[in-house]
Amino acid sequence: MQNKFGKRALAALGLGLSAALALTGCGGAAGSQSNEPYTGTLDLSLALGEGSHHHIGAEAFGDKLEELTDGRITVKYHYNNALGGEREVVEGMSIDSIDMGIASTGPIGGFVPDYFLFDLPYLMDNHEHAHAVLDSEIGDELAAKLEETANVKILAWMENGFRHETNSVRPINTPEDLKGIKHRTQESEVQVDTWTALGANATPMAWPEVYTALQQNVMESQENPLPTIYDVKFYEVQDYLNMTQHVYSPAPMMMSKKLFDSFSEDDQQAILEAAEHALPVQRQASLDQETEMKKKLVEEGMELAEPDLEPFREAVEPVYEKWAPEIGQELVDKVRNFEY
Ligand code: MLT
Repeated sequence: MQNKFGKRALAALGLGLSAALALTGCGGAAGSQSNEPYTGTLDLSLALGEGSHHHIGAEAFGDKLEELTDGRITVKYHYNNALGGEREVVEGMSIDSIDMGIASTGPIGGFVPDYFLFDLPYLMDNHEHAHAVLDSEIGDELAAKLEETANVKILAWMENGFRHETNSVRPINTPEDLKGIKHRTQESEVQVDTWTALGANATPMAWPEVYTALQQNVMESQENPLPTIYDVKFYEVQDYLNMTQHVYSPAPMMMSKKLFDSFSEDDQQAILEAAEHALPVQRQASLDQETEMKKKLVEEGMELAEPDLEPFREAVEPVYEKWAPEIGQELVDKVRNFEY
């Protein structure tokens, strides 16, 4: 809310968390709770553009918050990483230089290793499974860990949805078809191990650099949910759409904890209520866009492959052997066997 713009510029420059903390002194009044109703605008960072399911969810939140606070609190949407890449945005909320963001969990494992859970391939069977896990005490406990460790508060488990691979080389019908393909992963070691196990030549890269890397052939392959692939026009630089459905990707809507704690109790309640209202709106938009975008991506000229997923599941077993003990075998088993 206050003294933000100087600090936000630091986050946008991509300074690491500790360097930014040292420079900002981590001070400011935003931490102490006010009894006064707040009047002002919250800045919300989005990795996707206008009309995306992130935007639809964010707007449902903003409209409801405005209604609940009689117009006192409004939300400004910053599309397409305008406030920084996803890791920078999480860092920014952590040091209270960015108010809010919707970001996928890929870069969050760097803050709280439990979040590498979501990078485990073929962990969730379908949307019902994923939503049931996130809406249970498992989602609550993961949110509490991020809050304690990184001072970032999850307001709603919004989503990116299931991710699929695209490339400019060939259709992928078996893991062997990925052999040697230059594949971009999110900034997560689990993802690098997954794509290495599948045979690709995997390299992590920050999201804002991906389009250009694919365009210039520095990378030949990437993976994202269908609405994202359409939103950022990957069909312009990728010929093959392969329904690998390897990971369910949450995209929580988050807020700087210091900022949240600074609001009056009534305003905190309004924020939580608006987030609860927005969650099903965003999830439905994500589901609708998944169906719609599959059709549209084919219309844009992408060649569609729908491989048998069993050989992919088998190929990634070593990733579980390595990472389940690190993440917590009990947590991994609980999620895999969750009844929904
Ligand atoms: C990524 O691939 O880095 C993310 O999925 C981008 C996003 O959150 O939309």
